[in-house]
Amino acid sequence: MVAGYWDIHEYKFVVRIKVAKYLYFLADIKGKMNYDSIFSIVDHENQHSNLQRPYILKYSKELNTAKKAAAEASAIIREYASDESFSIELKGKNDLVTDADISAENKIIEILNEAFPEDLILAEESQARKILPEGRVWIIDPIDGTTNFAHQFPRYCVSIALWDQKTPRVGLVLEVASQELFTAVDGEGAWMNGKEIHVSQNTDPSSSLIGTGFPYNNLELVDNYLVLFKRMMEKTHGVRRPGTAAWDLCNVACGRFEGFYEYGLSPWDVAAGALIIQEAGGVICDWEGEDDWLFGERIIAGNKVIKDFLKDEIQACFQKVQLKK
Ligand code: IPD
Repeated sequence: MVAGYWDIHEYKFVVRIKVAKYLYFLADIKGKMNYDSIFSIVDHENQHSNLQRPYILKYSKELNTAKKAAAEASAIIREYASDESFSIELKGKNDLVTDADISAENKIIEILNEAFPEDLILAEESQARKILPEGRVWIIDPIDGTTNFAHQFPRYCVSIALWDQKTPRVGLVLEVASQELFTAVDGEGAWMNGKEIHVSQNTDPSSSLIGTGFPYNNLELVDNYLVLFKRMMEKTHGVRRPGTAAWDLCNVACGRFEGFYEYGLSPWDVAAGALIIQEAGGVICDWEGEDDWLFGERIIAGNKVIKDFLKDEIQACFQKVQLKK
């Protein structure tokens, strides 16, 4: 009936506006949302117009703010990259930082602070923390893959996550050189450049592509790590090491990799990518198969079967005491 009068898309649009007004009415009554957050919901929906669900209700202001911060940070990083005008310092052995990291991190924090002045920050270059506080915490890596950036190897990411009550709520990873944008919201799904993504359904290790990383400075587990690496070469289609854990995790989320493992990681390397995997239907654990992967430095990710395969392989190569930080 309706389609006889209106184009079906116009009809959907009108329904969406009516739903938005109704939500605004409800939110206004409850005093939980403001006018801005309703329209950032519309904004978010417009950017994910391939979705059939009417609105992304949760954390839309947070996601849009993270997108703005990532876009501005990315512009700063690209400016430094365009004439290679950055300077490099060492924080420790093989642990690089550039002035592009610092400028990008400052810009991200400025934008997040302005939008959410009450929220806490955990950031690689200026506000590293050893534990995750209660409440809302933004976990930021301005350039994940600083070594790649310093050598102008084109895989380095801005990574921004919001954790609330020790649970990931919003995740964003922007690969700066290609502008590939991965996002996720707790309970809402995961997207690559606005298109919904899912982990690979391939559960056969022998036809799987596996991602990993090599530690830069903590080499205490390397002998066993190389044994594991050999087993992976024998048992899978191949192993890749792009050099940015945040993007590695996104490659699991969109199904390019069936699984990923690494040790020596920091919370800002994994905080956003982990939610993107979970929302894409994948699973994450530490090397003991438990949940201590944010600060535990050891991570396994993948679809459920490949995650279990990787866990078994890792546990076969390391002593029990080596599985924990
Ligand atoms: C690094 C990257 C790399 C991983 C290192 C991390 P950073 O992060 O994620 O892939 O192998 O362990 O430290 O230091 O470039 O932000």
